[in-house]
Amino acid sequence: MSSDEKIHETVRAYYGQKARELTAGEGCCAPSTCDCSTSYSGEALLDIPEEISLGSFGCANPLTHASLREGERVLDLGSGGGLDCFLAARQVGPTGQVIGVDMTDEMLDLATRNSRRLGFEHVEFRHGTIESIPVDDQSVDAVLSNCVINLSPDKPEVFAEIFRVLAPGGRVSLADIVTLGPLSSEYLDQGDSWAACVAGALTIDDYAEGLTRAGFTDVSVLPADGSDWRNVAHGHPISALITGRKPARSSFPSEGPGAG
Ligand SMILES: C[S@@+](CC[C@H](N)C(=O)[O-])C[C@H]1O[C@@H](n2cnc3c(N)ncnc32)[C@H](O)[C@@H]1O
Repeated sequence: MSSDEKIHETVRAYYGQKARELTAGEGCCAPSTCDCSTSYSGEALLDIPEEISLGSFGCANPLTHASLREGERVLDLGSGGGLDCFLAARQVGPTGQVIGVDMTDEMLDLATRNSRRLGFEHVEFRHGTIESIPVDDQSVDAVLSNCVINLSPDKPEVFAEIFRVLAPGGRVSLADIVTLGPLSSEYLDQGDSWAACVAGALTIDDYAEGLTRAGFTDVSVLPADGSDWRNVAHGHPISALITGRKPARSSFPSEGPGAG
């Protein structure tokens, strides 16, 4: 098994267990960086039942800067129990479409049950990895993700895949764990430090550069709590909101006329 596959296996086992605990009614809230987001206002959650909203393993609210509009097609990478898909589904309405992708069967089962309970017909969950997204080229208007890209062993591939599936002019709106400067070694020694959204975190500079290299413009990486990077301690994991845009006209040769 390659080292990338080993990371996938470790992460899948970790979130499979989390989904089973949620399904058994044991609730969330084991202490870790990407457990139990409290980042959603009551207004955002509106009528979402607590069992579903407390099943979030996100680190901030990626919809904050997504500016979703009615009728848009949205993709959520690493959709977990589906909370962000459901919030997006409300914003895009029944003429829109929301696809959640996750590689953990137990999470997909949980999300599917949650979706049926809420009665959404324009939300769909697909099995797959974010390094090889099971979605057509240029087929979505916005890509969301909440505390997932840090878990990937191949971030450049994830950024390239996001770029591929976005329609020209489409946007990316992510919540993720990042660090200001290299991660302090104390975090690397903890058990489960990759699966708990710590060891795989990019620095803010690497995040911005990775998205820019993939072709995104207007890239921004900001602390999710609204603070200034100047007040953030070096080397600690911190939640960030990350945005970028795919140019309306791509200069990437693979996307020109006759490409393919
Ligand atoms: C920290 S949880 C976040 C779940 C959800 N976004 C939320 O906010 O509650 C990470 C999720 O991403 C999924 N995941 C992690 N790495 C993945 C990958 N490489 N491809 C697809 N899904 C992945 C896990 O199975 C898990 O459901």
